[in-house]
Amino acid sequence: MGFWKSLFSSPGVTAAPNQAQSSRFVAEAESSLSVPRIFFSTERDIDLYELEELCDAVGWSRRPIRKVRKAIQHSFIVVSMWEQRDTRRRLIGFSRATSDHAFNATIWDVVVHPDYQGKGLGKALMKQLIKKLRNEDISNVTLFADPHVVNFYKGLGFMPDPEGIKGMFWYPD
Ligand SMILES: CC(C)(COP(=O)(O)OP(=O)(O)OC[C@H]1O[C@@H](n2cnc3c(N)ncnc32)[C@H](O)[C@@H]1OP(=O)(O)O)[C@@H](O)C(=O)NCCC(=O)NCCS
Repeated sequence: MGFWKSLFSSPGVTAAPNQAQSSRFVAEAESSLSVPRIFFSTERDIDLYELEELCDAVGWSRRPIRKVRKAIQHSFIVVSMWEQRDTRRRLIGFSRATSDHAFNATIWDVVVHPDYQGKGLGKALMKQLIKKLRNEDISNVTLFADPHVVNFYKGLGFMPDPEGIKGMFWYPD
């Protein structure tokens, strides 16, 4: 079973991976409007209060909205994940990457709403983001994993401390 099929084997979803190039792309297609579907988007005009609610739902500290707006505007790639029921859309996942546009990208703010966790959607979101980065010929992708999600990223092929390299941080006093 291919990646997309195995991810979306729950009722009401079927795979349509060849649509993944457009800015708002449907990962799942359904003929009936009443059946919820999941789609991904690279558009940046996200309601920042909706994004704040999503981040609140996983217990992240609040950040000034104007700074979040700036961070999104200046990100290299943004991939959001939505559930659509009839005409209603709900933001259920988010991720973004900054980059030097040539060699390196760093992934930030990976989040899936708790109601949708454990269904393979975090993995799908990350795969979409990495695919977009690879399409831009970025070959060095890094991230900073919270300790409780190290295995989530390992499952996606990320390695902690390759060749002994340590992430180092500087903070103002
Ligand atoms: C981390 C997060 C994005 C994972 O999303 P998700 O939709 O629950 O993950 P998936 O269902 O796609 O899981 C994919 C795989 O990772 C594993 N996994 C998921 N969360 C995990 C965790 N916290 N620790 C270890 N493994 C995890 C799953 O078991 C699954 O394994 P499998 O492929 O062998 O079945 C989500 O839990 C989240 O938003 N957490 C809060 C925010 C956060 O901590 N973000 C990361 C900041 S660095």
